[in-house]
Amino acid sequence: MSVIDIDTVLIIDFGSQLTRLIARHVRDAGIYSEIVPFQSAEDALVRIKPKGVILSGSPCSAFERESPRAPQKLFDLSIPVLGICYGEHIMCVQLGGRVEENGNREFGRAFLKVEANSPLFDGFWEKGFSYPVWMSHGDSVIALPKGFDVIGTSDRTHFAAIADEKRGFYGIQFHPEVHHTIHGVRLIQNFLYKIIGLKDRWTMANYQARAISMIREEVGEKSQVICGLSGGIDSAVVALLLHKAIGNRLTCILVDNGFMRKKEVEEVISIFSGTYDISLLHINASDLFMNALKGVTSPEKKRKIIGGLFIDVFEEEARKIGGADFLAQGTLYPDVIESVSFNGSPSVTIKSHHNVGGLPQRMNIKILEPLRELFKDEVRILARELGLSEYFIARHPFPGPGLAVRCPGLVTQEKLDILCEADAIYMDEICKAGIYKAIWQAFTVLLPVKTVGVMGDKRTYEYVCALRAVISVDGMTADFYHHDMDFLGRVATRIINEVSSINRVVYDVTSKPPGTIEWE
Ligand code: XMP
Repeated sequence: MSVIDIDTVLIIDFGSQLTRLIARHVRDAGIYSEIVPFQSAEDALVRIKPKGVILSGSPCSAFERESPRAPQKLFDLSIPVLGICYGEHIMCVQLGGRVEENGNREFGRAFLKVEANSPLFDGFWEKGFSYPVWMSHGDSVIALPKGFDVIGTSDRTHFAAIADEKRGFYGIQFHPEVHHTIHGVRLIQNFLYKIIGLKDRWTMANYQARAISMIREEVGEKSQVICGLSGGIDSAVVALLLHKAIGNRLTCILVDNGFMRKKEVEEVISIFSGTYDISLLHINASDLFMNALKGVTSPEKKRKIIGGLFIDVFEEEARKIGGADFLAQGTLYPDVIESVSFNGSPSVTIKSHHNVGGLPQRMNIKILEPLRELFKDEVRILARELGLSEYFIARHPFPGPGLAVRCPGLVTQEKLDILCEADAIYMDEICKAGIYKAIWQAFTVLLPVKTVGVMGDKRTYEYVCALRAVISVDGMTADFYHHDMDFLGRVATRIINEVSSINRVVYDVTSKPPGTIEWE
């Protein structure tokens, strides 16, 4: 199901690390964008009928025979194209220009000298002046295709910005999507508003109306829908959207897998049931999940087992309510963006998020994913539009497999209990310090190692607890949160004093990448 019938900018991904950042800027500019890997771009042009296209960067070299290409027909569609870095190179190659590795590499800060005024630079960059931009290239354009002119140069790159203004084709060697390129975001906005001429604004208010009418169309007049409620914002937003769309034909199911945080299940049930007139079933399946994880240490196995059991429980409950035709889940856009794979090799799965893929094949039930076009921060805006309780909106994200992926190695009830206690103390201190909202996500991890300590003149040999806190916009990249050292000391002291099985606390200062937010 897609709720999108809005003017769209297609971003063709050639494998750059920065492609998602481009999509973010386009969305932030109020224009709907989708990323497709270059292999699917031909179909996407037909399916989406984009109003404009952005070609991403890439680790490849455009002059190599096997290098990934844009569909050639893109250049005959009479729609504007912006090529960024490799995107500029491949557009040149495909239109008859030339690219070489000529030794004029530029990495990091450079200066763009504007050689001609252009709608791309309108309002912030003027002919004859130089501006800081961010470059990252070893190859360069050395001959332009017919119809193109140079609109910007740098010390080492003659074709740092090029344009065929008649056809609306623009190429830039620098990266406007990174914040080191001053006014890069405005350049992207000029491409969207002034060059493509887009007006159709992507807002969560119009998304809500579209989503509701799409759900009604898809579900029809009679079908029943079940929705797994986790206590997080995504599933709560899905539930509210569905309730608006189909009323009491929705049944929410909260499956307690035994991996929830201290008092979490009771709290979620009480707030949800106290606020909304939506049918909610509470299923305690903790024994089922705990038994299935006996002897399992691999993070991927844990995730797969937990994902599979959720399906079993949903199937069972669907049967009990007399058959549901649809299962609704809060899958988000970052989960469905296909990664680029080169040479036909499959892209690497970092983690199997339990709410993506796998379900439809096994379940005799159709899947509704009304948030699959949204980034996390967009879901937060939608949640406010829907009047969702602040309790759900402000909550830090929590993974479906819960504390099971915060107990690296074997998961036992003893470890879960210890982790719950430590986590509750950390959260309590975060709330007391008034920093909960400044942090994107915070949690504790119970390490599967014991270390020696000394308490009250006695030797201790207990677990290590790691504290994690990150800041992020959408969970795709993250930086560790800079806690105050006194705060960390306070949390460590409380955890060690109050949780008898932990005698050491460490703080995780890894950003994402190279780390992920969760440890498993
Ligand atoms: P990672 O660890 O991949 O996590 O950097 C990114 C964000 O996703 C959350 N997460 C999950 N959410 N099901 C979910 O609904 C899952 O299986 C899952 N695994 C990770 C994680 O907490 C972070 O916010």
